[in-house]
Amino acid sequence: ETGTLRDRFEETVARDRRVEPRDWMPEEYRRTLIRQVAQHAHSEIIGMQPEGAWITRAPSLRRKSILLAKVQDEAGHGLYLYAAAETLGADRADLTAKLLAGQQKYSSIFNYPTPSYADVGTIGWLVDGAAICNQVPLCRSSYGPYARAMVRICKEESFHQRQGYELLLTLMAGTDAQRAMVQESVDRFWWPALMMFGPPDDRSPNSARSMAWGVKRHTNDELRQRFVDMTVPQAERLGVTLPDPELRWNAERGHHDFGAVDWAEFAEVVAGRGPCNAERLARRRAAHDEGAWVREAATAYAAGQAAAAAV
Ligand code: 3HC
Repeated sequence: ETGTLRDRFEETVARDRRVEPRDWMPEEYRRTLIRQVAQHAHSEIIGMQPEGAWITRAPSLRRKSILLAKVQDEAGHGLYLYAAAETLGADRADLTAKLLAGQQKYSSIFNYPTPSYADVGTIGWLVDGAAICNQVPLCRSSYGPYARAMVRICKEESFHQRQGYELLLTLMAGTDAQRAMVQESVDRFWWPALMMFGPPDDRSPNSARSMAWGVKRHTNDELRQRFVDMTVPQAERLGVTLPDPELRWNAERGHHDFGAVDWAEFAEVVAGRGPCNAERLARRRAAHDEGAWVREAATAYAAGQAAAAAV
């Protein structure tokens, strides 16, 4: 019986069809999807903090309303993704507990500080730009609910990327001090943005299986390369330099060569020893505790409703 079910699963994946919640799936497939989708959701929620810090200090009402909308979008992305994880049998409260206990990850990029307002633009341009490179292929992920969540998320991400780039273009058309602010921000975020795509392919324990199951459509290095090739002309148009002396077009490869990523720094950040890891988790823990009354009220209300309906 399982043989037939496994055959049907393999055939679904081989034909680039969608695996749906009620379909039989190997336990390992379920587990790796819960792992990836939950960490994606955690990344969206933690990702609200770095730029959220600038909502009260945005330089104009227009910038403040754009930033508010973007941070609200990230919260929504997190909720879609937790809902997708729940279709795999995961429990949202359990996923939050695992995040707060350091048993599940979130993207390394959000463990870097945002000391300058230009960071709001740089995050939109580079971080959301990298997210788009990573998330567009995920619209074709083999697990239906994940792929469908990505379609909506990618539409909103392109707004995020564009508003960030427009913010930086405006600053670059300003004073020398504003131009220096943008360059300093790009210098801080460029290499951490490349780390968002994960470790090199030869040190990526999950990639082979995720590619075989159609969870991932490209490897970490392929998407990193695609992001570099996409971003170099944008940096030129912006008038900023990317902090990599080895970055140059390689006509033979048809891609840009670039310098070595500091994988020791990446490992430190992923291990919880990045510049802002403790602060980000403390904030998330505080928000969870401060929100307990909302969860209790909703549970009490639902119980009251159920009791009334049972009469
Ligand atoms: N930060 C933290 N952990 C990372 C990481 C990163 N940038 N890159 C890889 N890792 C972790 C992996 O989770 C894995 O650990 P685990 O087995 O405990 O989960 C380990 O490092 C080895 O990496 P692998 O390449 O083997 O893992 P994956 O095959 O899962 O690839 C990934 C990593 C490319 C991030 C993949 O999980 C993925 O595509 N996830 C979905 C997209 C996502 O999470 N993007 C993060 C940013 S979300 C965002 O940017 C929001 C936007 O609005 C700004």
